[in-house]
Amino acid sequence: MSALSYDPLDVDFLADPYPAFAWLRENDPVHHHPKDDRAPAFWALSRFEHIWEAVRRPDLFSSAQGLTFFPDEIGQLGIPPTMVMLDPPVQTQLRSLIGRGFTPKRVTVLEDRIRDFVRARLDDMGRRWRDGMGVDLHEHFSSTIPTYVLAELFGIPLGDQEKFAPWVNALTQLQNDGFSLDPNGSATGAGALTAMAEMMEYFTAAIAHRRQNPTDDLLGALVAAEVTDENGTHRLSDWDILGFCFVVVAGGSDTTASLITHAVTLLGDAPEQRRLLLEDPSLISGSLIEFLRLESSVQGLARTTTAEVTIDGTTIPAGEKVMMLYAAGNRDPREFGETADALDVRREITRHLAFSSGPHFCIGTHLARLQARVALEELLARHPQVAVDAAAGTRHQSAFVRGWLSIPVTSL
Ligand code: HEM
Repeated sequence: MSALSYDPLDVDFLADPYPAFAWLRENDPVHHHPKDDRAPAFWALSRFEHIWEAVRRPDLFSSAQGLTFFPDEIGQLGIPPTMVMLDPPVQTQLRSLIGRGFTPKRVTVLEDRIRDFVRARLDDMGRRWRDGMGVDLHEHFSSTIPTYVLAELFGIPLGDQEKFAPWVNALTQLQNDGFSLDPNGSATGAGALTAMAEMMEYFTAAIAHRRQNPTDDLLGALVAAEVTDENGTHRLSDWDILGFCFVVVAGGSDTTASLITHAVTLLGDAPEQRRLLLEDPSLISGSLIEFLRLESSVQGLARTTTAEVTIDGTTIPAGEKVMMLYAAGNRDPREFGETADALDVRREITRHLAFSSGPHFCIGTHLARLQARVALEELLARHPQVAVDAAAGTRHQSAFVRGWLSIPVTSL
């Protein structure tokens, strides 16, 4: 294995990035990646401790120049940067506005509705299977759950939820295009842009309605929220609220779907681990971080240095993009021991990087874990030997996120 194997825009690397991550961790933990014809030069951190320290220092490692190693990412977005691309203290203030929508208490009340939804999906999958129609774990199961939950969170009435699914897909597609192998040659068609426009129109009307008729959902909370800045204390504009909606949809859908699907693929490769969960389903809750540790939905995101920084004897100049390779840190034997590459559903994990750390620590962790727990509890109870054909599946081609576009079920 050589350093050349770490080529984040190469299809072979993306098929199995973990050997290259291991090489980096051991041989070149503060890696300088030279400019090539597809991407500018950037740095990459792969050891757990280095990443953990860096993401907790937003004063040195800023998010305000974008989260990929591509240039002018913020300019190309065409919308004002949302909190994930801002630094404290502005980010802290914005984040506190939606924080109350995500407290464990607020999230827990969704459990019964999520369970009913998941059971209905399983009924549907069972019907398709019996009728000899193909069943796709991503399309017919994993991806539908976060879409439903986001709609509930925003307070979108049931009758409108069918419209919401294509909007979530469009936003995810747009984000993944930005994250994909060739961000300039975007694969997104006009359909996705039309869907985005429809979503903006719908949310703008929903916001206007809530300005007159307060509601208890996340959208209602954002309408009621007040911020204090150089212009005094004021309500959020429609534009600000739309930004929040977009960051929550973009951050909360595919990431959660990938966790559910990866749990199934990982258990498929480790029958004895599957047996442990089947014998004692109370282990499912604790196993979720282990699935995410081994297959991190967010593989890595960039920061930009605000000053010269020296890590492990290597100096990174100011103004350079630095990839935080969360997925590499999550398999670092220095943190997780010699079995770091193996699935252990009973592993006790105190720290991990699947949700990052520091000021941008994922705001949706409770919600993601609730969905994945309920999904796996119900799936394994109904179909204990569910199996998929990963080789026949299609993955996102992205250096930043890892997940599926489709993955056929081979046994239910
Ligand atoms: C398994 C599922 C999920 C994973 C792996 C995940 C991962 C992450 C990571 C790594 C970050 C940090 C980004 C950075 O380093 O700059 C993040 C931030 C964020 N996530 Fe998640 N996420 C998940 C689910 C969710 C859900 C369900 C929601 C909401 C419904 C959500 C909303 C957000 C938001 C709004 C941020 C930005 C927070 C900030 O900048 O302060 N995520 N997520």
